[in-house]
This record gives sequence, C-alpha cells and structure tokens, in this order.
Amino acid sequence: MEYVNLAMPSEKCAFPEAAIRGLGSLQGLFFPAFIPVLEKEKILELPRMDRCLQVLKPFVEPELSPGLLAQILEEAFSFEASVKKLEPLAKSNNAAIFALELFNGPSLAFKDFGARFMASCLSRIKGSGPMTILTATSGDTGAAVAHAFFGMTGIKVVVLYPEGKISRAQEQLFCSLGGNIHTIAVAGSFDDCQAMAKAAFDNTGLVKKTGLNSANSINVARLVAQITYYWDLCASLGHTGKEELVVSVPSGNFGNLTAGLMAKAMGCPIKGFVAATNINDTVPRYLHSGKWQPLPTRATSSNAMDVSKPNNWPRAEKILKDQGWTLDAISVNEEESFDAIRELDGLGYEAEPHSAVAYAALKQALKPGQRGAFLCTAHPAKFAEAIQAALGRSPVLPEAIKNVMDKKNLSVKMAVDNGALYTFLMDLV
Ligand SMILES: Cc1ncc(COP(=O)(O)O)c(C=O)c1O
Repeated sequence: MEYVNLAMPSEKCAFPEAAIRGLGSLQGLFFPAFIPVLEKEKILELPRMDRCLQVLKPFVEPELSPGLLAQILEEAFSFEASVKKLEPLAKSNNAAIFALELFNGPSLAFKDFGARFMASCLSRIKGSGPMTILTATSGDTGAAVAHAFFGMTGIKVVVLYPEGKISRAQEQLFCSLGGNIHTIAVAGSFDDCQAMAKAAFDNTGLVKKTGLNSANSINVARLVAQITYYWDLCASLGHTGKEELVVSVPSGNFGNLTAGLMAKAMGCPIKGFVAATNINDTVPRYLHSGKWQPLPTRATSSNAMDVSKPNNWPRAEKILKDQGWTLDAISVNEEESFDAIRELDGLGYEAEPHSAVAYAALKQALKPGQRGAFLCTAHPAKFAEAIQAALGRSPVLPEAIKNVMDKKNLSVKMAVDNGALYTFLMDLV
C-alpha cells in the first residue's frame, strides 16, 4: 500500500516508512492511497485472527509478508474485544444496544490495540539506528504506548502529559515503569503537550539524531490496527442484513472514528456512526455551522477527549468527502455524561465517562428499529474518581491497577517550553 501525505500529496511512501516517520513533511498526515474493499460475507465468517490478517494485509503489503503480519498479530493482539448486550433497554426502546468493550489489554484501554500493533511492527522494521518514541497523551495513550514498548531494546519512549489533568490511576500506570520509559508532567494542557511534540518533529536535526517517531494516533500503524475491532463487532453481532447498525464513538482526536469510517469504506456492514464528544465540541459545531472554530480546551471528566484541535480530523473528513457520507456528531455535557453513567448502572453496566458520553450520544441518535453499539474505550477502574462522584461507590480495581498504585511516580516536571524538551531528548541519546 502506498501512503500519501495529505498536506503534500506529492510525498508518497510505503507502510514501513509511514510507520517509522509518523508524520510527513509539513506535519502532514499519511493516508492510504486507496481504501481496499473486501468481500464482507467471507471476512465476517473467518475466525478472529484470520479476519484481522485479511483486513490488515492490504495496508501493509508487499513490504510486510502475510507470514510476518501473522507473527505481529499473534504478538500484539494477545487479547480481544468483548461485546455485551444491554437487555432491559432493548425492551424499553425497541432497539438493541451493545457495549463494545475495548479495554481488555494490559493498560485497560482501547489504545492497547493500536500501540501494541505499532510496537510489534516497529521492532521488526526499524533497522539498526536509535529510535525515540515521542508521544503526547491526554491520559490513555501514555499507558498503552509505554506498556507496548516497555523493555524493547534500542527503543526509548518519552511521554508528555498535562500535569494534574489525568486521573491518578492513569498516571500511575505509565509513570512508574522506568527503564526505557521516560515521562514528563507538563505545566499546561493536552494541546500544549501536542504542540511541543509537533515542534520537536519539525526540527529535522533532532528527528535524525534521536530517530524520533510519533506513537500518537496519527501513526498509520495505530490507525489501521483499530479497523479490526469494527469488523470483530459486526462478526460478533451476526450480519442479518435486516437491522441497521449504528456505532457511537467517543471522540477526542478522532483516530478511533477514522478507523471506523475506514472499516465501513472497506465494506464492514455499519449503517452509520455517531461522533460523540464532550463539551470540547469543535467537530459537532463545525458540522452544523461549516465553521472550524476551536475554542480553549475545557476540562471534563472524560479528560482523554478534552481536545479542541483534533489532529485526525483531516483524515476523517477526507473519507466523508470521498464517500459522500454525512456524519452525526453530538456533544454531551457533564450532567448528561453523569446521568448516562447512572442510567447504565441501572441497567447493570458500569461505564466510565468516555464510554458514557458515547452511550448518551447513541441514545439521542438511534432511530426505532436500529441496533446501536457504543465503544467502551477504558475500564471503569481507570476513572475511579468519576465513578465515585456519579455512583457514590468505587469501581472494583483490576490487578493491573492495584499493582501500580503505590509505586513511585518517576516523572520529571517541565514548563511549556520547546527548548526544554529539545534538551531532554538530545540528552537521552
Ligand atoms: C478512554 C478514551 N476514550 C476515547 C478517546 C478518544 O479517542 P480518539 O482520540 O481516537 O478520538 C481516548 C483518547 O485518548 C481515550 O483515551
């Protein structure tokens, strides 16, 4: 597959180069030259790993052979998504609603799929030079990337996060690892962290010297990996062709939604998507008014979606334009998210704020007779403070979190300062 730089269409490269570089020239996003269309009936019938192989093969060949891809998938996808049906609602609403749980990996968030696939790919294609993964996180990316690369020889990881704006469990999950994982608490917002990372990638000398690579959702390896669970969802629900399936995606940087749109463009039988945001609603406002007007980012309980300049939007918009599709985009406020957490709890389902935003938006969008699914992007235990506030009780902590809560936080502090980050990165090599 050839990948095209959306900011400079004359720049094209194959999958390994796009995955190693992360961003193209002019900070452009790489995007597949075409989206392959698959025979959906055949794909949906395959066992999971065979299905993932067939879905991802066109995006990585010929540089990665099917045999190599199978090895990568074996290593990276050592866990899978689960689908839960919310029964009582099905009766009251004449529609079935399903939770697609994506938090069964080591960092308890959907990003484990993309980060582990990317790490497995990079460890095989990176060559012999140094490699530094630089990533800005609004919460979950940090843990997923840190765990995916932890202990890999020849690869260093630097994670920037907004100090005090992520939950303690999120922070402990990636700031206590040590070894090849370096974490920086930045005195600013997620957008500041993202801007610092972008400035570092703009410095060609620094990129060369440190072998700088982005592990954010802008990396094509992460993006394509996320396509697979939309296919898994449809395979698990069964494709009768009678009921329309609408999928609600909790969105911050819009990588997850882009992967969903790609799955649909490939033939995955999803009728439509709901882009669910919190009050950081640049995209819903844009789709209603036609004006791109990011506002200052506001802190919410779904903090990984506190993004006002979503960096994957150009890709999502390209697919919508190419396919002639419209997108339902709904912004959910804090009160509605907390109500959704309580409503889900009443249905016997414990959900954290990001998943609750998706559920609240799905309920608004779903038409009678349609089946709905909402993506559960993180385990409730990663957002214990919000669950406590909404339900007056703490979620049960899984072992992965229990084990890290008392460990030392190894982060260093940094101001919003591109120069300080430059020095830090140079000192690592
Ligand atoms: C738990 C959770 N839900 C949703 C999102 C939003 O995903 P995306 O940035 O791909 O839109 C994130 C992103 O960090 C997340 O961590």
